[in-house]
Amino acid sequence: MKRIGILTSGGDAPGMNACIRAAVRTALANGLEIVGIRRGYAGLIEGDSMPLDRTTIRNIIHLGGTILETSRSQEFTTREGRARAAESITQADLDGLILIGGEGTFHGAMLLAAEWGTVLVGVPGTIDNDVYGTDASIGFDTAANCVLDAIDRIRDTARSTEYLFYVEAMGHHTGFLALESGIAGGAEELVIPEEPISIAELGAQLKKGFTIGKKSAIVVVAEGDKPGRSFQIASEVRNYLDYEYRVVVLGHLQRGGPPSVRDRVLGSKLGVEAVTALQEDRSGCMVGEVKGEIVYTPFEDAWKKEKPLDSDLKRIFTLLSD
Ligand code: F6P
Repeated sequence: MKRIGILTSGGDAPGMNACIRAAVRTALANGLEIVGIRRGYAGLIEGDSMPLDRTTIRNIIHLGGTILETSRSQEFTTREGRARAAESITQADLDGLILIGGEGTFHGAMLLAAEWGTVLVGVPGTIDNDVYGTDASIGFDTAANCVLDAIDRIRDTARSTEYLFYVEAMGHHTGFLALESGIAGGAEELVIPEEPISIAELGAQLKKGFTIGKKSAIVVVAEGDKPGRSFQIASEVRNYLDYEYRVVVLGHLQRGGPPSVRDRVLGSKLGVEAVTALQEDRSGCMVGEVKGEIVYTPFEDAWKKEKPLDSDLKRIFTLLSD
C-alpha cells in the first residue's frame, strides 16, 4: 500500500478533524501518501481531491465541522454513481480509502466494495451515535454536551417563569442524545423512538409531577423521523394538561462547535487505527471502540444492525426523574 485517500460523509460531527489529522500523521509516519477527497461521496464521484500533508492539517484539532466538507450524495446511491466513484479511485491511484461517517456511509461502502472490490475502512462519525460496533461515534459527546448546556440554560428560565419546556434533540430514529443529556440535565420526561410513550401517559406523568409540587418541568424529545415534532407533541399534551408551555428545537446548533476532549481523543485513536487497519488488510469493516478495545465490524453490520440504547441508563432516567 502506497497511496490512500480519506473522506467525510453524511452529517458533519465535531472530532472529524481530529480523526483526519490523526490519519494523515499516521500515514506519513508509515511512509504512505494520503489525499483528501472533498465533499464526501459527491466529491469522490467527481474526483474532487486535495493534497494532505503536515501543513494542511495544522491547527485543525480544535475545529468542529470537517475541513474536507461533506455531502449526502444521491448519485452514489445508484450503481452508475458508484461506478464513477470506483473509476475516480483508479484515476487517483488510490490503494485504499478511509471513510468517516454514519450508517448511510457504510451502506454505500458495502456496495462499493462488493461491486468494485475497493479497499475501504470506515470510522464512525455522527452525533446521533446510532452506529452498531462502537460505544460512541465521533461527535456524540460534544453534541450531548451542547444539548446539556441548552437544558441547563432553559432550567434557569423554567424555574423563573414556571413554564413547562419541551427541548428537542437530534438523533434521527434513535434517542441516544436525548437520553444522556436528559439524565445529565435532570429532565422530568423523555420522549424517544425506542420506547414510545402515549400523549395521555406523558400528560399524566407531567400532571403527577405538578401535583406533588413541581412548578416547572423539562421534557427532552428526540426528533425521531420528524424534526420539529415536539411542537405537535406539546400541543397534544395540552388536551390532558392545561399548563403554559414553550418549545425549543435545538436543530443544527448541536452539530457545530469545538469538539470535546472525548471526541478529540476518540477521533485521534480511530484515525490511527483506520490507517493501521488498511495496512493490515482489514478492508470492508468499520473500526470502532467497545469497552476500551478496538473492534472491527463488517460494513453490513455497521449499517444494518440496530444499536440498542443502554437499558440501564433508561432505568436510571426513570428512577431519577420521578
Ligand atoms: O448528523 C445526523 C443528523 O444530525 C440527524 O440527527 C438529523 O436528522 C440529520 O443529521 C439532519 O441532517 P441534514 O440536515 O444534514 O440532512
